[in-house]
Amino acid sequence: MEEGEKDIKLLTEDIFLSQQMSIFPFIICIFVTPKKLSKLLLTHKKMKKLKTLSMMLTVAAFTLLPSKGMAQFNWKYKIEGGKIVTEVPQRAAGQQSALLLKTPKLKTVRVAFVGLGMRGPGAVERWTHIPGIQVMALCDYEKERAEDCQKYLRKASMPAADIYSGEKGYEEICKRKDIDLVYIATDWLHHFPVAKCAMENGKHVAIEVPSAMNMHEIWQLIDMSEKTRLHCVMLENCCYDFFELNSLNMAQKGLFGEVIYAQGAYRHELSPFWDHYWKKDQNDKLGWRLDYNQKYRGDVYATHGLGPVAQVMNIHRGDRMKTLVAMDTKSFNGKKHVEQMSGKPCEKFANGDQTTTLIRTEQGKVIEIHHNVMTPQPYNRMYQLTGTEGFANKYPVEGYALSSKNMKQGGMSPSNDDLSGHEYLSKEDMKALEKAYASPLVTKYGDEAKEVGGHGGMDFIMDCRLVYCLQNGLPMDIDVYDLAEWCCLAELGAISMDNGCLPVEVPDFTRGGWNTIKGYSHAFASPEEEAANDAQAKAFTAKLKEKGKRYWEKIDKKKKK
Ligand SMILES: NC(=O)c1ccc[n+]([C@@H]2O[C@H](COP(=O)([O-])OP(=O)(O)OC[C@H]3O[C@@H](n4cnc5c(N)ncnc54)[C@H](O)[C@@H]3O)[C@@H](O)[C@H]2O)c1
Repeated sequence: MEEGEKDIKLLTEDIFLSQQMSIFPFIICIFVTPKKLSKLLLTHKKMKKLKTLSMMLTVAAFTLLPSKGMAQFNWKYKIEGGKIVTEVPQRAAGQQSALLLKTPKLKTVRVAFVGLGMRGPGAVERWTHIPGIQVMALCDYEKERAEDCQKYLRKASMPAADIYSGEKGYEEICKRKDIDLVYIATDWLHHFPVAKCAMENGKHVAIEVPSAMNMHEIWQLIDMSEKTRLHCVMLENCCYDFFELNSLNMAQKGLFGEVIYAQGAYRHELSPFWDHYWKKDQNDKLGWRLDYNQKYRGDVYATHGLGPVAQVMNIHRGDRMKTLVAMDTKSFNGKKHVEQMSGKPCEKFANGDQTTTLIRTEQGKVIEIHHNVMTPQPYNRMYQLTGTEGFANKYPVEGYALSSKNMKQGGMSPSNDDLSGHEYLSKEDMKALEKAYASPLVTKYGDEAKEVGGHGGMDFIMDCRLVYCLQNGLPMDIDVYDLAEWCCLAELGAISMDNGCLPVEVPDFTRGGWNTIKGYSHAFASPEEEAANDAQAKAFTAKLKEKGKRYWEKIDKKKKK
């Protein structure tokens, strides 16, 4: 049997097993009546029956627990008055909201990276450019991938990090007392277990997107952040791209009036990657993504599109996502990819080629999010803001549409007095607008970010902000409730579609706090505090680099001998 065929068989068995598991309680109820059960218990000395009983009880126990493969669909919900309402776990007594959570300032951010495949190594390299950090540990399931990242530390004259590997290598990292932050860039199935372990062991976590894959994970991360008072940040880099940051600043200053409708997307045909993302055998860790899409319905990668627009729309800072409806096409190309890889017909592919989610907010605004990784098209995150007084659009054309009157009210001198807002501003007007409304983050980090890179620099701005907030003891730009709101589209969308596209109530993940903060903002330290912390961070890095230089010289000398 070919490797690909083995996988299809395994997946089919997986789905079949899940289906079998879900009918086991009924089988047990039909065949094992209380009378029969007591009879069986009474004659338990007979080994054969005891064996049967224990087998049945084991199967029943597994059946009652949510099975891993079906976790996405196991969250409790009910249909009430034409809409779907999902279960909202109560906040435990003594547990408090983590809104605007502040933690003690960290002089140095001692970080461990877990998951060093395609995405992780870039983060290690970027972090070597940030003052006041030390890379303590590098971990990947495959040891060579972790070891390979030492080259970035060497290049930056930073001491080597400790290497961890294997399925549970991260557990050793989490037990260490000299690590503050675990930066997680594993596949989607490992985001949650690593984050849980890290937080249970007193570490802040920063998790790649999407940080949580279903409602079980979402609510547990919220509870953990609230209980442990540790940050649980989602690494949504698209919130830090230049156009998005500047537009956020413009929106906050009222240039677009009320932003009433926003679009976001992840439209990126991944066919060049599917072969790479296809599981070649059971030990192949790069083969998770197509498999995940084959198994699960819903927008499984919503955060690039949703994150930046949710910030503009002040989600859980005066408004909240209230209702969503999702609709998908059936799978056309997804199936084809599996068939090409396996050489066999693909019976089931859960994720539609195109998934669209519409969200209405408490304040009567609408957000539209697309997911399409299957059909040929130019890369597009959409990012479109429709305001009562103006308009911003990033893909396929970057531009702003504003009237001359509105431009003047915003302190600008438009090149033309007849601008109506029906057309994009000229290049000249747009340049002047972006200069006048440059985001403070673009001003502070923009030039260096372009040099360091990471999706044109946005990844570096994101990392710098994470470190800045930790060093200055400030609330994070993206908190655990943002994580919850942006990731919930996967499971809630699937629930909507599985029920004929019924509206689903989006739970208030803040459990009552969504209207206590008025407007989204990036937190800043006072200029004096910031300067003192920056100086301290730079001094630390200078010393660390001296130490690192000596370390690598020693290693090289040893090698020569
Ligand atoms: N924000 C972005 O722009 C962006 C871009 C690409 C990928 N991503 C995200 O980054 C993450 C990683 O994506 P990728 O393309 O690098 O995937 P990948 O498969 O190339 O890398 C994942 C790595 O995790 C490792 N891993 C698996 N189990 C592990 C364990 N138990 N302990 C330690 N390591 C383990 C694998 O060995 C692999 O090296 C995903 O969540 C993805 O969605 C984000």
